Amino acid sequence: MIDTTQSLGALAQATTDCLDLAVVIPTYNERENIPHLLERLPSVLRGISYEAIIVDDDSPDGTSEAVREIAMRSRNVRLIRRIGRRGLASACLEGMLSSSAPYIAVMDGDLQHDETTLPRMFDLARNASLDVVVASRNIEGASMGQLSRSRLRLSNLGLSLSRLILHTEVSDPMSGFFVVDRRFLDHVIYRTSGVGFKILVDLLASARKPVKLAEVPYTFRMRGAGESKLDLAVSLEYLYLVLDKLAGDLVPLRFVMYTLVGALGMILHLGTLALLYLDGHASFLTSQIAATFLAMTFNFLLNNLFTYRDARLRGKQLLVGILTFYVACSVGSAINLSVSEKLLGQGLPWLLSGFVGLAISSVWNYGVTSVTTWRRRNATRLQYSS
Ligand code: GDD
Ligand code: MN
Repeated sequence: MIDTTQSLGALAQATTDCLDLAVVIPTYNERENIPHLLERLPSVLRGISYEAIIVDDDSPDGTSEAVREIAMRSRNVRLIRRIGRRGLASACLEGMLSSSAPYIAVMDGDLQHDETTLPRMFDLARNASLDVVVASRNIEGASMGQLSRSRLRLSNLGLSLSRLILHTEVSDPMSGFFVVDRRFLDHVIYRTSGVGFKILVDLLASARKPVKLAEVPYTFRMRGAGESKLDLAVSLEYLYLVLDKLAGDLVPLRFVMYTLVGALGMILHLGTLALLYLDGHASFLTSQIAATFLAMTFNFLLNNLFTYRDARLRGKQLLVGILTFYVACSVGSAINLSVSEKLLGQGLPWLLSGFVGLAISSVWNYGVTSVTTWRRRNATRLQYSS
């Protein structure tokens, strides 16, 4: 019989080069920048055994090819090329999970993060036994650099919102530059959302014990070539992340989103009704029908954009999707009407009857449309598991 303890011991002895650190770098269209960053790492990380893991979402500018060319010459450079997927946070998680290093750094690939800060972060994490070391732009000795005023405002807004879900004292949770102990990653991994850009907020908010954390200052540099990928959709994804963490394990966030969209739809419905009926343009029935269709269409489009953005329907699928949505919601309305009328008949107050009817039909609509209209989402669940 093979003695595995012995053979593993022999293997460890044969391996003089133990891995200390993984540097995970998410990229999307960074072909011009990434070679410069990879070039700088060997001298910056002298004495530290590291691997660089570039997680590229199949950038159209050929970032993957540029990285592969370098990786063919350097054994400690690896490429993870994701097809049909997008997302900074989920890319970071995937890169982090792909490594066996005891410490994992995450940094941007556009040269904005000062790589010379890395050794200090790694040493601090290891020597002070910390869970997380954050490179901060908000402490003494640090600087936001030349961040535009609007980006600064957005960052501060994000910071305030993060306080709702973080129990850890940290000056720059919006930073995408940090080192974690792999044991900390293992502790939080199942609770992470992997949504949007703010992976550090995600990790910290997923902890179920006090996080041992320190921050080191650095100056946020100007981006190298190319442009930022932060747009309105990414900002909304941040709100999604905060809501996801707030909802916790109690309610599925999709349902919360669905209900919020439904509430907006109701306002639109009532507004349209008022406009058509009160202004005397149409009969009550015609106004109701028009308002219903408008609200349903609005709800469908919004849910398709946000609630089910990982299974978003496009082209012909959009048409089939909207039809199944109409049918499911019409049945939902029928349930709503019959339940609330029965309850009213049994002596319940009108408001309560109406509310219960609405609640039951919402659950129905959500349940049915999630397995019909957006049924594809199960196949793509990994993209944004929430
Ligand atoms: N794989 C992958 N997929 N990478 C992405 C994606 C994506 O969908 N979107 C952006 N990236 C990569 C970029 O190529 C870059 O390397 C890094 O993530 C940061 O993206 P930027 O587009 O440069 O974002 P930013 O400058 O607005 O904000 C960044 O810097 C902040 C300050 O540290 C983000 O990383 C924030 O998380 C960070 O706090
Ligand atoms: Mn950037």
